Amino acid sequence: MASAAMSTAPFILSASKGERLVLSRTYKDGLFSANDHINIGLIGSGIQGIYDTRAALSVDGVKIVAACDLYTGRLDRAKELWGKDLFVTRDYRKLLDRKDIDAVIVATPDHWHKKIAVDALKAGKHVYCEKPMVQKWEDGNEIISAQKSSGKICQIGSQGMSSLTNEKAKQLYKEGAIGDLVLLDFYNDRYSAEGAWQYPIPPDQSPDTVDFDTFLGNAPKVAYDPTRFFRWRNYKDYGTGVAGDLFVHAFSSLHYMIDSFGPTSALATGGLRYWKDGRDVPDVSITLYDFPKTETHSAFNAVFRVNFIAGSGGGSGFKLVGTEGEMEIGWNTVSVRRSKLNMDPGDYSLVAFTEKTQGAIRSNHSTVSPKSRNSVLQTGTTTWESPRDYKGAHHDHFHNFFTAIREKGKAIQDPTFGLRAAGAALLANESYYTKSPVKWDPIEMKMMG
Ligand SMILES: NC(=O)c1ccc[n+]([C@@H]2O[C@H](COP(=O)([O-])OP(=O)(O)OC[C@H]3O[C@@H](n4cnc5c(N)ncnc54)[C@H](O)[C@@H]3O)[C@@H](O)[C@H]2O)c1
Repeated sequence: MASAAMSTAPFILSASKGERLVLSRTYKDGLFSANDHINIGLIGSGIQGIYDTRAALSVDGVKIVAACDLYTGRLDRAKELWGKDLFVTRDYRKLLDRKDIDAVIVATPDHWHKKIAVDALKAGKHVYCEKPMVQKWEDGNEIISAQKSSGKICQIGSQGMSSLTNEKAKQLYKEGAIGDLVLLDFYNDRYSAEGAWQYPIPPDQSPDTVDFDTFLGNAPKVAYDPTRFFRWRNYKDYGTGVAGDLFVHAFSSLHYMIDSFGPTSALATGGLRYWKDGRDVPDVSITLYDFPKTETHSAFNAVFRVNFIAGSGGGSGFKLVGTEGEMEIGWNTVSVRRSKLNMDPGDYSLVAFTEKTQGAIRSNHSTVSPKSRNSVLQTGTTTWESPRDYKGAHHDHFHNFFTAIREKGKAIQDPTFGLRAAGAALLANESYYTKSPVKWDPIEMKMMG
C-alpha cells in the first residue's frame, strides 16, 4: 500500500478553461472455452446479490451455477433470472460443498459476512464479499487470516473504487492537482422510502417461506418478524447503519486515492428524526474524522454526512479540498478546479482605516501567497468523464476479481484494505452510541481504549 509521496513539481492541467476530456481503459479480455469458465455461486440472492451477479456475468468466461438464500421467493427469482437448472439451497454449506464452484459472492446482511466468507475460504473458494467487510471491526482479522492461509483471492465489494474516475483522481492527486489536502467533504442525502431502506415485504412471507432462525445467526433471538428480515439494515443487530452502508464506500475510495490507511479519531452526532418505523439506527448522521500527516498526505479533516429526510430532494458529493484547488469525484466524472488565492486587501477590512492608511496598505501589500506553489499555479477547471460505452465500476471491480483469480494476482480491495475501510466507517457508530469521541489505530486496525 505504501506509495511515492505527492509530486512537488508544479501541476499543469492538461486542458483548462472548462474543457471535458474522455477517460479510457484497456481490458485484457479473452475468449474462454466452456471448461475454462469460472463457476460462481451466489450466497444472499437479494437486491445486491442480483446486481453483483449481473456485473460478474458481464465479465467474459464467468458462469453462475448455484444460489443460496433464506427466502424461497428469492430462490425462485434466481431460477427465473439464471435458468431452471440452477442449483438452489437455503443452506450455504451445501453450496460450498460443490466441487464445481470456484468462487462465491457473499451478499447477505452484514452480520453474516464474516462467518460465510471464512467458511468459503476454508472450503477453497475465492470470495467476493460485500461491504462492509465486517459488522464488527474485531471480526476483521479472522477474514484476513483465512484468506492468507487459503491462498485464495478475497475481494471486498466497494465497487466504486475500481471506477475510471477513482483511478484518474488518484493520478491527479499524486501529481499535485489540488496541492496539500486539507478537507474531504462527503455527503449522501436521500429523499425516498427506498433510499431510507424501507424495502418491500412480499405478501407470501411466512415462517415457512423464510428461514428466520438461520437469518438471526449470532444475533439475539427474537420471534419471527418479517420487517427485521426484509429491512434488516434498520436494526443494529444485523446491519451497520449509514456508516457501514454508505460511509464505507467513501473510505474505500479515499484510502485508494490518497494511499491512506485511515483516520485516527472520529466524533459523531445525529439522530433518528423521521423514520420512526421501529428502526434503532439514526437517519441523520454527521461524523468528523481526523487524518494525521503521513508520507502520502498532509494532516486533514473529513466530514461525512448522511440525511434520509432531505427536503431539497437529495443528492450526493465527494470533494477533496486542497491548498491549490478542489477535486469533485462522481461515478462518471472527475473535475479539478484550480484557483489562485486572492491575497489583495479587500474593501471590507480597509473600511476601518483612514484613506491615507488604506492607500499605504494597498501599495505595500505583498502578492505572494504563503504557499509558494500558488505563485506558479495554473488556474482553470477541467472535467474528465467516462466514455459513453463504459461498462461501469461494478463490471470493472468484478473484472479485477476474476483477473486476480486467473492470474493468481492480488485483489484491488483485499481483506486488509476492507478492514481499514470498514473499521474507519464503524467508528461513526461507536462514537454515536457511546456519545463520545473514539480513537482508531489504522495501522494495527484496532479501536483504542
Ligand atoms: N456494494 C454496494 O454498492 C452495495 C449496495 C447494496 C448492498 N450492499 C451490501 O450487500 C449486502 C446485501 O444487501 P441487500 O441490499 O442485497 O440485502 P437484501 O436483504 O436485499 O439481500 C440479502 C439476502 O441475503 C439473504 N440471507 C440472509 N442471511 C442469509 C444466510 N445466512 N445465508 C444465505 N442467505 C442469507 C436474505 O434472505 C436476503 O435475500 C449487504 O452487506 C449490503 O451492505 C452493497
